[in-house]
Amino acid sequence: MHLADKLVVVTGGGNGIGRALCRRFKAEGAKAIVVADVNAVTAKQVADEIGGTAITCDVSREADVVALVKQAIAQHGGRVGQVVEKPERVISQPLIGI
Ligand SMILES: NC(=O)c1ccc[n+]([C@@H]2O[C@H](COP(=O)([O-])OP(=O)(O)OC[C@H]3O[C@@H](n4cnc5c(N)ncnc54)[C@H](O)[C@@H]3O)[C@@H](O)[C@H]2O)c1
Repeated sequence: MHLADKLVVVTGGGNGIGRALCRRFKAEGAKAIVVADVNAVTAKQVADEIGGTAITCDVSREADVVALVKQAIAQHGGRVGQVVEKPERVISQPLIGI
């Protein structure tokens, strides 16, 4: 993976597969990792562990997802290079229109 210049957002990042992905993206050298989860406590735990940023987000709410991306870009600049969306599916595409 070429993640050195990438901002990565992992939803459901507070536990399970998402947490494992956060750790892997850290190991792969991602520029910045946003740990997004409906559970603010576990999101912060993972973010603290990997030196990332925690954002509370319920992916079933469109407004939360829009706010997540806007906040991630505001905090880290540029655009989101990779979105890993859990728990239902994984996508990897630019978020056009946000
Ligand atoms: N298809 C497969 O082969 C396969 C295999 C394993 C797991 N799964 C699925 O992948 C998903 C994740 O599995 P896991 O073991 O990592 O689960 P998990 O319960 O350990 O972690 C899920 C994380 O998502 C968060 N979350 C739940 N709802 C959310 C929401 N609306 N918005 C934001 N965050 C939310 C939880 O707080 C938790 O941190 C599950 O849906 C599971 O069924 C599929």
